[in-house]
Amino acid sequence: MLNKCGKYLGEGYRRIVYEHIDDAGLVIKFLKNPDDDHNQIEWDNWQMLKDTEKGETLAPCVSMSDDSRFLVQVRVKLLKEAPNNVTEWLKKLGDWKVGGNESNHWGTLNGKTVLIDYGDKKLWNI
Ligand SMILES: Nc1ncnc2c1ncn2[C@@H]1O[C@H](COP(=O)(O)OP(=O)(O)O)[C@@H](O)[C@H]1O
Ligand SMILES: [Mg+2]
Repeated sequence: MLNKCGKYLGEGYRRIVYEHIDDAGLVIKFLKNPDDDHNQIEWDNWQMLKDTEKGETLAPCVSMSDDSRFLVQVRVKLLKEAPNNVTEWLKKLGDWKVGGNESNHWGTLNGKTVLIDYGDKKLWNI
């Protein structure tokens, strides 16, 4: 999937993010450390919540490589600041605040505010 990575868009502590070469409406999130479980957890969270109301607050994941090194996600328009009224269940995510305010973790998609970095903790217990 490395050959599908186009323009560099940004990075965080765990992943480098590129535009998808075949579709500028998608991003590829590439794990810096192959043993990191961030992509796997983000993918699992999406699979768990995608058909629920909570899922509407998450940037949709599209596919993932078998080794989880590459995660394809819908590209969102990034917000400069975290939204004021973050839903309670999202606050239970460890890094929502740090991420939201300092690392561009929020964006808009079809007029809705969504979180793009949600692979720190499994969400199905909350
Ligand atoms: N779905 C997305 N749409 C647009 N930009 C994104 C998307 N996902 C990540 N990015 C960009 O890549 C950066 C790092 O992504 P992030 O998911 O926060 O990685 P990390 O887990 O390493 O913190 C973000 O701050 C943002 O600039
Ligand atoms: Mg981040």
